[in-house]
Amino acid sequence: MHILLIGNGGREHAIAWKLAHSSRLTRLSVAPGNPGTAREPKTTNITLDVTDIDAVTAFARDQQVALAVIGPEAPLVAGLADALRNVGIPTVGPGADGAALEGSKAHAKDFMSRHAIPTAAYGSFTSEEEALAMIESEGVPIVIKADGLAAGKGVVVAHDMHDARAAVRDMLSGARHGQAGHRVVIESFLPGEEASFIALIDGNTALPFATSQDHKARDEGDTGPNTGGMGAYSPAPVVTDAVHERVVKKILEPSLRGLREDGIDYRGFLYIGLMIDEVGEPRVIEYNVRLGDPETQPLLMRLDSDLVDLLEATAAGNLASVSADWSRDTAIGIVLAAGDYPAGSSRGAPLSGLDQIDAQECVIFHAGTAERDGQLVTNGGRILCVTATGIDLASAKNTADTAAAKVHFDGARYRRDIGHRALL
Ligand code: AMP
Ligand code: GLY
Repeated sequence: MHILLIGNGGREHAIAWKLAHSSRLTRLSVAPGNPGTAREPKTTNITLDVTDIDAVTAFARDQQVALAVIGPEAPLVAGLADALRNVGIPTVGPGADGAALEGSKAHAKDFMSRHAIPTAAYGSFTSEEEALAMIESEGVPIVIKADGLAAGKGVVVAHDMHDARAAVRDMLSGARHGQAGHRVVIESFLPGEEASFIALIDGNTALPFATSQDHKARDEGDTGPNTGGMGAYSPAPVVTDAVHERVVKKILEPSLRGLREDGIDYRGFLYIGLMIDEVGEPRVIEYNVRLGDPETQPLLMRLDSDLVDLLEATAAGNLASVSADWSRDTAIGIVLAAGDYPAGSSRGAPLSGLDQIDAQECVIFHAGTAERDGQLVTNGGRILCVTATGIDLASAKNTADTAAAKVHFDGARYRRDIGHRALL
């Protein structure tokens, strides 16, 4: 079958890599893809402007695409999945109604409150005066979030009043995040440990994936600026069997019920960002309407089942007829980012050392790479994700660390402590 995959990040390279393993796949088109996806068997990068919904649906129809998979949030929020379904293409990814769970934090909080899903107490404001009043009455620590999509950069966890007030003023004045910041959500600070809980949903049934955890802070010791994610591992030991059961009963099932009650036929990945407190009670920090990046890279390395079967069942509403098998191994992904990530976008530095890495041991997923005169160069932001498995986290980490050290480009940065919470 011919599958169309939308996106160009590390997540999409991992999806392409896993789909390419399937004997059911005859052709994979990735729009726009990256040099990593271009190297996968049966796979071609397609030059398509993925914000041009008509162009994408025309390609899918003309090229007899049997399944479309949408990786990133922006095209989902813009309604690409609706458009593809309207022309009869089975699609993995929610329509614009479901994608609003990520597209608007205020909408997501209202959804959780309406459906009694545990999360931090919150207020949602367009008025600076009212927002500042909440900060004065609640005190710090407190969390201020731009309402709209801000590429993982719209959240300020403020530990002093000055930072809290400045974040509100910055966002509401539109100076930061433009339109996305014209409304802010202010919520109470939740202490605890984070984990990523990802499930496939087909409108009626949810199929939880293995657990994972990412590291959002740029620097070692979970310090420095917030990023899209500097590394991840799976499984996440903080999600014990008891915590898992609570997440399913108190969060995943009510989320699916809530979507149905709201008349939303959600077909795609739902990513629940969790904070788990010291007694193991989970609360939702955020919903994403897609797979996480970099969680996908280690997750898919542990998936023993055929991803084509799972995604096809999701799009068709048949999830109850499939199951997902996971390797008992632990997997880890370490992100190699540009030196100026997340603030800058430097690019063009030649990459070397990739050929020194044993492909049996480690998979190198491309994110921000480009090809110039046949040479791989950096293309800004997160460049690669070096991903390995092992019988435990320490051995997986050792393999990935050794491989990461062999890759070179000007300004490369990566964290040597990915997984530290699970190693203690
Ligand atoms: P988000 O983009 O909503 O995932 O937020 C980015 C990061 O900010 C999260 O991964 C958390 O580390 C942190 N964060 C967000 N909301 C809260 C909260 N209510 N309490 C504590 N930390 C939070
Ligand atoms: N790693 C978190 C995300 O994909 O948003």
